[in-house]
Amino acid sequence: MDKILIRGGNPLSGSVHVHGAKNSALPLMAASLLAEEPCILHNVPCLHDIFTMDKILTEMGMANDFTGRTMTLDPASVKSETAPYELVRKMRASFFVLGPLLGRFGEAKVSLPGGCAIGARPVDIHLKGLEALGAEIRIEEGYVVAKGKLTGAKVALEFASVGATENLVMAACRAQGVTHLSNAAREPEIVDLARYLNAMGARISGAGTEHITIEGVDALHGAEHEVIPDRIETGTFILAAVATKGDVTIQDASFEHLPVFTDILAEMGADITTTGTTIRARAANGIKAVDVKTEPFPGFPTDLQAQTMALLCTAEGASVIKESVFENRFMQVAELTRMGADIEVDGNTAVIRGVGDLVGAPVMASDLRASAALIIAGLAAAKGETAVSRVYHIDRGYERIEERLAGLGADIRRVRE
Ligand code: EPZ
Repeated sequence: MDKILIRGGNPLSGSVHVHGAKNSALPLMAASLLAEEPCILHNVPCLHDIFTMDKILTEMGMANDFTGRTMTLDPASVKSETAPYELVRKMRASFFVLGPLLGRFGEAKVSLPGGCAIGARPVDIHLKGLEALGAEIRIEEGYVVAKGKLTGAKVALEFASVGATENLVMAACRAQGVTHLSNAAREPEIVDLARYLNAMGARISGAGTEHITIEGVDALHGAEHEVIPDRIETGTFILAAVATKGDVTIQDASFEHLPVFTDILAEMGADITTTGTTIRARAANGIKAVDVKTEPFPGFPTDLQAQTMALLCTAEGASVIKESVFENRFMQVAELTRMGADIEVDGNTAVIRGVGDLVGAPVMASDLRASAALIIAGLAAAKGETAVSRVYHIDRGYERIEERLAGLGADIRRVRE
């Protein structure tokens, strides 16, 4: 396994490009199962999770070609409607194939994703919604076995689940009649998915709001689509720039996809400006403590919570972070404490008392965003060396992170353990 070694204290400066959004590319790839002709996706990030989804679709018979950042997916020869446990357990997003398989073939067998480091992550909202569309759902030996010709229905989601919204939108595209989703997730990735499906001939309206209407159609054709920029990668680079009191320009980004996050950064005293698809993040001096509560979009993104906590470890004053989306998303706390942070956790609330500086130490990544938090802490720690182990977690969501940070002046390298 690889390790990433960091000697912090260098203010990051220069320019970095943001890639396509992992959390958009994954459902877009699954949605391609609905087409009866080849589809083309541009700006697809080269990440482990993308390769896992590629493997799942290929095993089902999808003919994929992924060259550079362009992926061609030909679903004409899809024959198996099964997503196997050994692949689904590696990546929860594999569960997104359930809706398209059911919508197109009237049956699907997808392994239950199981829990992960940040929580139990049940799929009850997905399954209740598909049953409302007329699917017959059985759980057999850890697999969801779903069957049935879908018919449009009114579905109220008990929580604005991103994945459940995506699975239900994809399934409803091929239902007989009209489906109305209420309390739907409003993330930009949902809007991106609806744009792609409509380009394939679907009839979806209201994506990006809590009410989405899908009028079922008889078939979907091929389409060509560009994946939106990764807002979480963007936010991660902004936090790294601010944590090192640097001055970084981030290209190919979407400032409008980070509304509350950028407001909070400004409240801390960071200087975040934007022109078109470029964002400039600066923090000449230290930052002030703030209170943060994670919420579904457009609220503060849970996927930037750990990285923001790393920054707040050296803020002036005490900050409070409330994680309201996942039940166990403070895995970074123990490791940040090893670097000298002063953090007290009580349930889903963490109080972070700013310390003068963090000190580099050997730390262990536990999940994708917690590992990004440890990298940010290492970049800020002027004393000592930070050695982040189990960096396969970070490779799931960030491409060549150490090379890109080194390009911004960080003293960071990857070594084989
Ligand atoms: C998506 O996961 C993202 N993953 C996550 O990003 C992100 O953190 C999450 O949305 C929230 O924004 C992808 O898009 C691939 P949810 P998803 O369903 O769809 C509960 C990252 O770091 N819930 O919105 O799985 C669930 O337990 C990843 O890139 C149910 O109870 O998230 C959680 O507490 C991590 N029942 C909350 O809802 C259900 O049926 C939010 O989950 C579904 C969800």
